[in-house]
Amino acid sequence: MNTGQITVNGREVTLEGVPPQETLREFVRTRGGSTGTAGACGHGVCGACTVLLDGRPARSCLTLSAAAAGRSVVTAEALEAAHPEVARALRAAFLTHNAFQCGYCTAGMLVLACWWVTASADERRSCPDVASLLESNLCRCTSYDGLRAAITAVEADHVLKRSEPRA
Ligand code: FES
Ligand code: FES
Repeated sequence: MNTGQITVNGREVTLEGVPPQETLREFVRTRGGSTGTAGACGHGVCGACTVLLDGRPARSCLTLSAAAAGRSVVTAEALEAAHPEVARALRAAFLTHNAFQCGYCTAGMLVLACWWVTASADERRSCPDVASLLESNLCRCTSYDGLRAAITAVEADHVLKRSEPRA
């Protein structure tokens, strides 16, 4: 049996009694109360279950709960608490640009996009542009044009704000 705890959206949740084979996706959905963390393939292929684990995107269906002991998880529900400005802008831009149709992939896409917009250039080395970013998450409805437009718009605005001289 597992011991320790995981911080889920700012709340410490015990691992006590959790079976060794349980995934982080199950953990955040049941004990963590984050039912917005979707799941589709269950094999690390689609990215629908993406969460931030210690600030970086992780496929929660491939991560054992035990491996996240002592670490911090942020799910789509808590993006606005973690990154208020960017998370709100992304939500609005997804609507404006029709970046989703069925919404199955949306939670994972928002988590991924929020990480990317707020990440440093060094952190982004493996996916320097939106096209390469979206290679990691599948949208079965092929809303990719809208996703690209929404994320690009928010990123451009964020970069602009970051470069503005502070008052
Ligand atoms: S459900 Fe985790 S990657 Fe598809
Ligand atoms: S909007 Fe349908 S899977 Fe992405």
